Amino acid sequence: MKKKDIEALILWYETNKRDLPWRHTKDPYKIWISETMLQQTKVDTVIPYYERFLKEIPDLKALANIDEDRLLKLWEGLGYYSRARNLQKTAQILQSQNQNTLPIDKLALQSLPGIGPYTVGAILSIAYGLREPAIDGNVLRVLSRVYEEKESILKPKVRAKYDSILQKWMKDFSPSSFTQSFIELGALICTKTPQCKECPLNQACKAYKHQTIDEYPVKKETKEKRILHKTVFLFEYKKKIGITKRENKGILANLYEFPNIENSLNEEEINKLFQNKGIYAKKIIKLQPVKHVFSHQIWILHGYQVLLDNPIPNVTFVEKKELKKEYSLPVAFQKVWQSSVLKD
Ligand code: ADE
Repeated sequence: MKKKDIEALILWYETNKRDLPWRHTKDPYKIWISETMLQQTKVDTVIPYYERFLKEIPDLKALANIDEDRLLKLWEGLGYYSRARNLQKTAQILQSQNQNTLPIDKLALQSLPGIGPYTVGAILSIAYGLREPAIDGNVLRVLSRVYEEKESILKPKVRAKYDSILQKWMKDFSPSSFTQSFIELGALICTKTPQCKECPLNQACKAYKHQTIDEYPVKKETKEKRILHKTVFLFEYKKKIGITKRENKGILANLYEFPNIENSLNEEEINKLFQNKGIYAKKIIKLQPVKHVFSHQIWILHGYQVLLDNPIPNVTFVEKKELKKEYSLPVAFQKVWQSSVLKD
C-alpha cells in the first residue's frame, strides 16, 4: 500500500459511508457501547438495540446502577451476554474510582473487563482521535487480501504485524476516518463475495492482481464445536408457562430458561422422570427439535410441551406476555418456544 491508496480509501469512505447512529457522536461511552455490540453482531441487528440501550442507559452512571435483569433484557437476542455483564462491571469499576468517563489511556482501558485490543483501538481512534489501530475480522480480511497474507489471520502475531503497519499509516490521517474506512470497506466491498472493481484499494491489492481473492483470508482450522443434546420442557399450567433462572456461572449465566436436562430423552424416559419428581402431566406433545449454534458449542434442543394440572416447585409460572416483556430468554430457548403452539 502507498499513501495514495489510503487517500483513495478515505475518500471512498467519506463518500460512501453508511449513515449509522454511532457515526453522529464522539462520546466515548456511546462509541464503547456500539463497538461492543458490533463485535459479534451485524450492523442492521445492532441499530435498534443501540438506540434502545442508550435511551434507557444514557451514561456510565446509569449503566453502573441498572438492575442486571433489566440490562440482560435490553440485551436479549444479541447473544454473547458476557458482553453486557462486562459493560456493567466496567461501569461499576469506573464509578468506584470516581471516574465519569472512559480512560483515554491504552493500558487503563485494556485492564477493564470486556475491553480487548480491538475495542481499545476503536475507542481511542474513533472517540478520542488517537493513533491506535482497531483491527477486527473485517479489517483483517481486507489486509489479508491486500498483502496476500499466507499465515492464519487468527494468529496473534499476524494481528500484531498489521497493527504496526496500520499505526505507521495512521500518522497522516484522521484516526477516526482511518479506522472506520477499513471497517466499512470490509463490510461493504471486501466481503465474502467482494466487489473488487468498486474497491478503492484494488490498485494496491496483491490478491486482486493475481486473482487469488478466494484464497484469503487464511484461517487456521478452528476447534470443532461440541454438540450437546438437551431435553427442554415447556410446562403449561393455567395458560402460564414455567421458567427457571440459570445459575450465576457458565454459558448464559443468570438468564432465564425453560426447565431442561442434558441428553435427548424419549417419552418413556420422560414419564419415568416425571414419576420420580411427582409431576403429573395431563398431556405431553413432542416438538420439532431445534438447533442453536454458540461460539464453542452447538445445542440440539428436543422440546416437549407439557400440560399440567398442578404447578411444580421451584419453577416460576408466568403469563406468556410477561415472559416476552420482562424476562431475558436466550434465543436458543426462544426457538423452542417458536416451535410450539404456546407462543401466542
Ligand atoms: N463494525 C465494527 N465497528 C463498526 C463501526 N464503527 N461501524 C460499522 N461497522 C462496524
